Amino acid sequence: MKRLVLSGKNIICGAGSLTALAELTCRRATVMTGGNSMLKNGVIDRAVQYLTEAGAQVQVLTGVRKNPSFEEVDGYLKDVREFRPDCMIAIGGGSAMDCAKAVVLFYEFSFLTKDNVLDYNATGKIPAMRKTALICIPSTSGTGSELTRGTVITDTQAKLKVPIMTDCLRPDIAILDPELTMTMPRQVVAETGLDALTHAIESYTNHNLDDFDEALASRAICGLMKWLPVSYREGSLIAREKVHHYQAMAGISFANVGLGMVHGIAHAFGAAFDLAHGLTNAIILPYALTYNRRDPVVEEKLQELSYLCRCEDIVEEIKRMRAELQIPNSYRDAGITEEAYLAQYDLLLEHSMLGATKVNPVVMTRESMGQMLHAVYYGDEIDF
Ligand SMILES: [Fe+2]
Repeated sequence: MKRLVLSGKNIICGAGSLTALAELTCRRATVMTGGNSMLKNGVIDRAVQYLTEAGAQVQVLTGVRKNPSFEEVDGYLKDVREFRPDCMIAIGGGSAMDCAKAVVLFYEFSFLTKDNVLDYNATGKIPAMRKTALICIPSTSGTGSELTRGTVITDTQAKLKVPIMTDCLRPDIAILDPELTMTMPRQVVAETGLDALTHAIESYTNHNLDDFDEALASRAICGLMKWLPVSYREGSLIAREKVHHYQAMAGISFANVGLGMVHGIAHAFGAAFDLAHGLTNAIILPYALTYNRRDPVVEEKLQELSYLCRCEDIVEEIKRMRAELQIPNSYRDAGITEEAYLAQYDLLLEHSMLGATKVNPVVMTRESMGQMLHAVYYGDEIDF
């Protein structure tokens, strides 16, 4: 038996859909955002204006960094507890949304701490219902966090990215306004877009795929293959909107189905070297697909994708697109020194076996994972 959630709770989409904030009925709203871009382009001011028009008092918390840590969540939590919002609104990339989700979790359930949250999560004891409304408004197109029941927070001491997956983290409303993505730098377009492609392909090639998510994932893959390069090159509103929608479809799909070892390895590298999540996935994706296609089911699905996306071989097409989007071919090319890589190797190997690697379509041993790590670091062929 499976329980699927195919749309999140509410999706509001289209250019200008940020104005939906003016229809909210909350009394005290916390707006959480990342770096400067949403402040500079006036989106936060507009959001505050809409919320004020709706009769809400507004608290704005800024400065969420990439790969948010438990310490950072704790810092925001103090401000939030003082303000006592009945609504949390995340505006920004995956980090802002993940941080806001974690803050809501600890704000809502005061018995949860950094030390016990994973036990509560593993045993399914985190309540599904919460009082604080959660609204996510992505300004990048990749993470899908606005539609998923998860957040990923970094344990800086353990150098480990910790996923927390529970129903109460599924936002009540996802607002997909493509106008917010227009100021994305090209590198962010490339990295976040390839994160979305990774979500869709890892979902599509996962043995847990169902018929409903097959439709979402396959359409997201072909749509991203077509529109992501256009979004990168031209940055038109239509291209940004297409990619924004396809990344959301990928998010819905992987939230139901699961991912694979690209994300398992990416979380290990991301935590060890504080790399952007999209970049870490983008480097690994073709290596992992090449390895996984020894599984006949994966190979059949990749052939289907080649047919659906009208290309000779989808993996070769991904490599070509990745090069066009200026993504390095390996972690060495991305600037990680060999000394730093080898110094972290044992930790990388240990952490790469965790998380989504456990649901990879091909079971990974420590030996095969060690070879995979060398391949993605040095840029070697997959010949093992
Ligand atoms: Fe991801």
